[in-house]
Amino acid sequence: MDNDLSNYRKSYEKHELLESNVPENPMELFKTWFHEADALFAGETNAMTISTIGLDGYPKSRVVLLKKYTYEGFIFYTNYESEKGKAIAANPNVCLSFFWQAAERQIIIKGKAEKIAENLSDGYFESRPRGSQLGALVSNQSQVVESKDVLEQQLRKLEKDYEGKEIPRPKNWGGYIIKPVEMEFWQGRPNRLHDRIRYTLQNDYNWLINRLSP
Ligand SMILES: Cc1cc2nc3c(=O)[nH]c(=O)nc-3n(C[C@H](O)[C@H](O)[C@H](O)COP(=O)(O)O)c2cc1C
Repeated sequence: MDNDLSNYRKSYEKHELLESNVPENPMELFKTWFHEADALFAGETNAMTISTIGLDGYPKSRVVLLKKYTYEGFIFYTNYESEKGKAIAANPNVCLSFFWQAAERQIIIKGKAEKIAENLSDGYFESRPRGSQLGALVSNQSQVVESKDVLEQQLRKLEKDYEGKEIPRPKNWGGYIIKPVEMEFWQGRPNRLHDRIRYTLQNDYNWLINRLSP
């Protein structure tokens, strides 16, 4: 097989990223870029890639949905016993990335993952549709399943068991917050002279801002 993609080429010209225009706190720039991307793109702007270092020593990346962000960090929900959950338990250092093609922008975030407080996970779980709640209950995420039929049978059983009842949050399901230590904003520019501005956390509040070579 020989699929040559060398002629895929695009000139990026939509925006410019200048040190003189960026806020002191990268979460503020994240918020601006998020809303600008959201206005341009009808899909899931909150889809982000999270990479972890697995127990097998390999990095692994997968997409999850960002559900909240604050000055403190980025929150998503998952199964704590999934492959990513086990990876985070052994090494909380993770990398998040967003690619917003319509804005010709990428953000790469290095940070530390922590479980959020149980009451916050409870609150979010309660707000989910019943179908998603049952899905979380039935799924031993990342485990091998005997067959799709077995999974569907288990789901039907849970639907009956919980008919008319409140569905409790499984203890192995909840949120993580990724607290950033480094955030890099990449803006595509013509002639591959892209703008890259990196924020590095110096202490709890101060961020060092550097321009990186494209
Ligand atoms: C658009 C999209 C959104 C997703 N959102 C989530 C999510 O919020 N939480 C989650 O656990 N998995 C989500 N997934 C599934 C993950 O990519 C992944 O398959 C799952 O978390 C198991 O990963 P692991 O086995 O590496 O732990 C999403 C996948 C896609 C494509």
